Amino acid sequence: MFFTVLTIFPEMFDPFWSHGIIRRALEAKKIEASAVNIREFAEDRHQVTDDRPFGGGSGMVMKPEPLAAAIRATSQTMQGAKAVLLTPQGRIFDQQMARELASYEGLILICGRYEGVDERICHDLIDYEISIGDYVLTGGELAAMVLMDAVTRLIPGALGGEDAAEKDSFSDGLLEHAHYTRPRIFEAQAVPEVLLSGHHQEIENWRLESSVMRTLLKRPDLLQNKDLTPQESQILKKWRQA
Ligand code: ADE
Repeated sequence: MFFTVLTIFPEMFDPFWSHGIIRRALEAKKIEASAVNIREFAEDRHQVTDDRPFGGGSGMVMKPEPLAAAIRATSQTMQGAKAVLLTPQGRIFDQQMARELASYEGLILICGRYEGVDERICHDLIDYEISIGDYVLTGGELAAMVLMDAVTRLIPGALGGEDAAEKDSFSDGLLEHAHYTRPRIFEAQAVPEVLLSGHHQEIENWRLESSVMRTLLKRPDLLQNKDLTPQESQILKKWRQA
């Protein structure tokens, strides 16, 4: 997976790329990543990337020419890549979308600033408009990092552990089960006995029950769109009655 970020603040990405799983995935060549400054594609002497809005009003709009040039130049070097505009007006990002994006060879992530980008950019040059939530950030950079983080975890081999991403919350429409580590008793709270038993099937059953119960308590909305297995339905029935 190739990520190219188009931004006026490429330095923001240096710390993101030099820590943890992302750093390891880069070092292991599971992903490649670079940030390109949109200013380099501005043709005027001052490398201006924004301008006042037609029709008046406050705030500035990102000019179309430098953005279009940056997207076209990047697309040419990244066959098979999809262009993603990060915007609060986009589709809300979720795990399913992360999986869809992880299936492409490359992503060009376009970070808006100011009030937004000139509308004419969106018609021919953008494949996805994506929002990371119903709130407005000062720019798309943090949203691009969120997206790259979630997508990288899904690239085979990026997490180290073989199937770690498959067991994540949301991967099967449920929240993940509760986790415990040592000590066995912490502030008078004991680890559930079954987890110490070494009995694989019972542990699996407990984990599924924990998963269903937590989803019911914390995110009941997730259960509305989910096809439950008979075992999950049974657990849900039990907890609904409790
Ligand atoms: N840019 C500003 N706010 C945003 C959001 N919520 N998601 C994606 N990009 C953004």
